[in-house]
Amino acid sequence: MSNTTDGLEDVVALHSHICDMDGRLGKLTYFGVDIHDLARNSSFEETAYLLWYAALPTRTQLANFTQQLIANRALPPRLLEMMHLLPTSATPMEVLRTIVSALSMFDSDPQDKSLAASRQRALRLVAVFPTIIIAWEHIRNGREPVAPLTDGNHATNFLYMLKGEMPDPVLANMLDKAFVMHADHELNASTFAGRVTAATLADMYASVTSAIGALSGPLHGGANEQVMRMLMRISEPAQAHAYIVDAIKNKERIMGFGHRVYRTEDPRATHLRAMSEELGKRANDMRWYETSREVEAAVKELKGLYVNVDFYSASVYYMMGIPIELDTPIFASSRVAGWTAHILEQYSNNRLIRPRAEYTGPKVTEYTPIEQRGE
Ligand code: CMC
Repeated sequence: MSNTTDGLEDVVALHSHICDMDGRLGKLTYFGVDIHDLARNSSFEETAYLLWYAALPTRTQLANFTQQLIANRALPPRLLEMMHLLPTSATPMEVLRTIVSALSMFDSDPQDKSLAASRQRALRLVAVFPTIIIAWEHIRNGREPVAPLTDGNHATNFLYMLKGEMPDPVLANMLDKAFVMHADHELNASTFAGRVTAATLADMYASVTSAIGALSGPLHGGANEQVMRMLMRISEPAQAHAYIVDAIKNKERIMGFGHRVYRTEDPRATHLRAMSEELGKRANDMRWYETSREVEAAVKELKGLYVNVDFYSASVYYMMGIPIELDTPIFASSRVAGWTAHILEQYSNNRLIRPRAEYTGPKVTEYTPIEQRGE
């Protein structure tokens, strides 16, 4: 075997009609609709509909779809009880992974992979992600979970459950926009993990659980949380350049920079940067935005790397008053729409995903009986 590519870089593993990206031009589309148009004009609900139905909804379709999402927000009470038994040291991503896995046991027929049943399950999963994440945020802090809203969009409900009161509409709109921009991203690591699991004809809960596991790592969705921790260590704009010089000297990875596909600015980062600036101005506190700008300039100058989606989302969520541990779960609350769209696509035209490995171990090794192997 030859042509082995570690990390499957630039390997085209399957056909998909959901998301297109051009890393050289920094272009991203969902079913042909430009991410900039979606970021400016769409909502998370409309974007999720687009991902599952391959077309933007009419007003009536969107209203019905939104109502169905709202109706599916509650968690089975036994899962809430189960969450009370978990160690409070568990991270929100660990709990999300565990509870999504357990949800299959509350589905009367998780193996039914008909399109109608799969779409219904996808809707249920998207609706319930914020409920799980925010319930855990309250439980691990010794508080009772806040029941989901019976109206309002995904973003408003997320912030409402977190704060226990209706959020500032400006913040809810920004979070909605962030959800739109995180909803899908072609064959990223977590989507691939989800599709690999779905391609064995495992159920959707197993597939989404695989995807959550992949997203949690710091090279993928876990990067946003690490970005905020780095900004806090840097603490102010004037320290940024020296910090980055040191980090590069120590061969550290700077979180929120670099991308496997983009060779220019990640189009989502453009909107998140503007949101970070706007939030700084609103709070009359430009510290996090300006520190981010200095870090961005230093990494560009010293390593030639561009920011990715995780960089400015960190300061955006922080300035919204969202606990840092929820940064990656926010990503998951949106990307679950893309994961499930890809799982639907996988089920509709399935073939087992089973690549090969180029063997680099010893060719022949004699079997030595255990008595002859020494102590
Ligand atoms: N900081 C420092 N050096 C970097 C970085 C970084 N963030 N990203 C890439 N490089 C360097 C790397 O050291 C290597 O240099 P050299 O050739 O001298 O050894 C070169 O760039 C190529 O790196 P690579 O690891 O082979 O590139 P990759 O395509 O495998 O990795 C990546 C892509 C996103 C994992 C990587 O850029 C990275 O680790 N970034 C930091 C983590 C991060 O922000 N992840 C979020 C990714 S985007 C959204 C998401 O998926 O959540």
